[in-house]
Parts: sequence; C-alpha cells; structure tokens
Amino acid sequence: MRNNKDRIIFEKSEETLEDLEKYSRTAEYPINDLFFERWSPSHLSGEEIEIEELMPLFEAAKWAPSAHNNQPWRFLFAMRGTPNWKLFFNLLSDVNKKWAKDASALIIILSKKTFDNGKPSMTHSFDTGAAWENLALQGFLMGYAVHGMDLFDYDQAKKKLNIPNSFQIEAMAAVGKPHKKTTSEEMEIYRHPSPRKKTEEIFYEGKFPRGDFQN
Ligand SMILES: Cc1cc2nc3c(=O)[nH]c(=O)nc-3n(C[C@H](O)[C@H](O)[C@H](O)COP(=O)(O)O)c2cc1C
Repeated sequence: MRNNKDRIIFEKSEETLEDLEKYSRTAEYPINDLFFERWSPSHLSGEEIEIEELMPLFEAAKWAPSAHNNQPWRFLFAMRGTPNWKLFFNLLSDVNKKWAKDASALIIILSKKTFDNGKPSMTHSFDTGAAWENLALQGFLMGYAVHGMDLFDYDQAKKKLNIPNSFQIEAMAAVGKPHKKTTSEEMEIYRHPSPRKKTEEIFYEGKFPRGDFQN
C-alpha cells in the first residue's frame, strides 16, 4: 500500500529507503521519534560483523521487564560466515531467504514456558516480546537493521537446534547493516511502508466495545 505522500517523495527524489520509511510515518500523539523511526529494512549489506557488535542488542533485551522477573527469553544466534549460519538460514522460507541472505546474524528467539520453580507462566511470550522490542530498538539506535521473522520452519528449528519442550520458539530475527545505496528498482522491491492502526482502533476506555469491527 502506498499513500499519495509516499508516491510524491518516491517519484521526485533520490531519497534512501530509510528516508522514505521515515517520511511515510506520522504519530498522532507526541512520542519520542525512536518509536516510529524504528522499522524493518530488508535491503542489507551482506557484511560480516563481530559477535561483540551483537552483544549490546542482547544486553538491551535482558533489561526488559518480566513477570516475577522470570526473564524467560533465550536467544540462539548464528553469525554470517560461521558453520551455524547455514543451519539457521536453511530454516527460513524462500521469501525470507531472498533478502535475509544479506544479513549479518540470524537470531532465534525462545521463551521458557515455566517459571524457574516449574509452575506454568502465563506471560512467557508477552515478556519475551518486550525483550525482543528492546533488542530491536537497541539495534536501530546502533544503526543496524533488525527484522523479525515468523516465516520459517518451526518444527525443523526445534529438531535441528535441540530446543527442549519446555521452550517455545517465538520468532527469528535478521540483523544486518542496511544497504545504503538503493536503486529505484530496489526501492520498489524492498520497501515496506508500514502504517499503523489509528489509536482509537486499539485503545478502549472500560469494557471491550460491541460492534462488527472486533474480528
Ligand atoms: C514476530 C514477527 C514476525 C515477522 N515475520 C516476518 C517475516 O517472516 N518476513 C518479513 O519480511 N517480515 C516479517 N516481519 C516484519 C513485519 O512485517 C514488520 O515488523 C511490520 O510490517 C511492521 O513494519 P516495521 O517493523 O517496519 O515497523 C515480522 C515481524 C515480527 C515482529
């Protein structure tokens, strides 16, 4: 989907994908730019990075809040150019392989379904979602592209990566350096303008409203 504003910018200028994504977003209420400037680029440079460069992303994830401070999130990762890369990469759907081939690291995000005392956790996914967003925001602040993925083979991931039953596979993420130079053709392929629902569609004061729009 592309709105008129996007079209004008795209046709007139030589802006980067990043600029285009930025301009296509507006917030209804005053918030820190960080929240709407973060996005999920798919046009990556194909560079290798050091594990140390990835560590601040995991550090940020670690500081997320969680029920009873259970910290149920776990991250498996594979760095480009290492033997694990192929193992992780082969889990991806063809559509994700097309662009994630140029990522620098692939991450699998897991959550532990129980508290450490063995009782089931109602919020292991919720807590891990918070950690993932911390990771994505930290990556964005450091100039990385961090792109979540659910189009991969969850069953194969469980088998091939020895993931125990007590853990849920939540998602994968590709981390890379955004490709700076982009041709107009690539813009068409890689650009994913992603607007948001209106605030009034997602926040209700009091009871859940009745109506036809609740699907
Ligand atoms: C859990 C999760 C799974 C996703 N799966 C995919 C995917 O398999 N392939 C893809 O290209 N994008 C995927 N995305 C990216 C979303 O499409 C993207 O976050 C959404 O459109 C909002 O755009 P933005 O992140 O640029 O703001 C995923 C994102 C999340 C959080």
